[in-house]
Amino acid sequence: MTSEVTARPTFPMRRCPFSPPPEYAELRSREPIAKVSMLDGTEAWLLTRYDDVKAVLGDNRFSTSPKQPGYPFISPSRASQLIHEDPPAFIRLDPPEQTRQRRMFTREFTAASVQKVRPFIQQTVDALLDEMVRQGPPYDFAEGFALALPSTVIAEILGVPIEDHEYFQERAQAKLDLAAAPEVPLKAGREMREYLDRLITTKMEHLERYDDLISRFLTTQLIPGHVTREQALITIELLLMGGHETTANMLALGTLSLLLHQKQKEALVADPGLVGNAVEEMLRFHSIVHYNGPRVALEDVEVGGQLIRKGEGVLAIGSAANRDPEQFPDPDAFDIRREARHHLAFSYGFHQCLGQHLARAEMEIVFPALFRRIPSLRLAVPEEELSFNFDAFVYGLRSLPLTWDVDDSGTGEQ
Ligand code: HEM
Repeated sequence: MTSEVTARPTFPMRRCPFSPPPEYAELRSREPIAKVSMLDGTEAWLLTRYDDVKAVLGDNRFSTSPKQPGYPFISPSRASQLIHEDPPAFIRLDPPEQTRQRRMFTREFTAASVQKVRPFIQQTVDALLDEMVRQGPPYDFAEGFALALPSTVIAEILGVPIEDHEYFQERAQAKLDLAAAPEVPLKAGREMREYLDRLITTKMEHLERYDDLISRFLTTQLIPGHVTREQALITIELLLMGGHETTANMLALGTLSLLLHQKQKEALVADPGLVGNAVEEMLRFHSIVHYNGPRVALEDVEVGGQLIRKGEGVLAIGSAANRDPEQFPDPDAFDIRREARHHLAFSYGFHQCLGQHLARAEMEIVFPALFRRIPSLRLAVPEEELSFNFDAFVYGLRSLPLTWDVDDSGTGEQ
């Protein structure tokens, strides 16, 4: 008789360029709620079934606060950043305080509010495409276009000078690097808030001159004392960061997916009405916030037949749920025609992405415009040479070198 000893898996596991770690599928069929070891030696429950992940994300008996004993930390750099965050941004608070602070912004990010930003997005996309064509191939789409668009859009909405974009961009990337030494994200966060502190001071001196989200927030929340200055700073930092690194990575990965699936790209160009569906599929397929979401049980709770005890860490991983074949048949296939809108790429429940309508609008505007303007767009390097940022909290491409036939890019505009 052979006795098979299965070692407890260690989290995080390494993902593949276009799929979550293969261990997720294996665990989903064998042990969908499994104990894993974290890098710091603690244990947590890893959930890989869609229904279980959704149940945890929507249940306020699970806390998202890193200050709660038992919270599972993805890496030492992430732990140092989250433990020291004081006061915490509302993404790391539980209701009712999270709800109170989040409500200060919900009106700014509704579908109707985003509708009003669409002309600015379109205008920025057109300008970036002009610049891309002007520079000519080979062109790093990740750096030149994908990062520039969401940075410009969120800076415009918030009222942050776009000239400072490099400063906050560099710090945003340092904060999201899971492999960095623990002091790196701490320093980056400190510098970001120092910058924002100066910006608040400038705006407060002449609030009547500004019509932007930060100024409205200062007028309606900071000045009447509904938030402290420290809370205001950490919240603005959250909006600034949440608003560009994520969308940027989706723009580059989405473009790559279409380039690697030519038939689907052609279908999208022929029928731009497909873009809404295509965007949902890109979000599901890439699930770039790939370690979302760590939680800790505030009391004993049964999930999917498993008792999770008070104080135990839970990894309700959306990127695993988004490949559950029960919900998404043939889940590893990229298919822009599938019904994917119920994916968990924007999370679910209390912390579901505040900026999702904005992210969707940017993606929906970019893809048809890009391939209409430059029909011959293609990779400038073999697919195997592409480099992915496996160690970042928000997954993406390090660069996306593209090329095209110069003579079709000037005439593609209609
Ligand atoms: C494709 C782009 C995006 C993706 C994939 C994405 C994904 C997510 C996810 C997974 C969460 C939940 C995090 C958690 O539970 O810890 C989240 C929350 C959040 N996102 Fe996004 N996001 C995107 C774009 C944006 C944009 C454009 C903004 C603009 C401000 C934004 C602002 C936020 C905020 C403020 C939260 C915190 C919500 C809360 O805790 O109540 N995101 N996002």
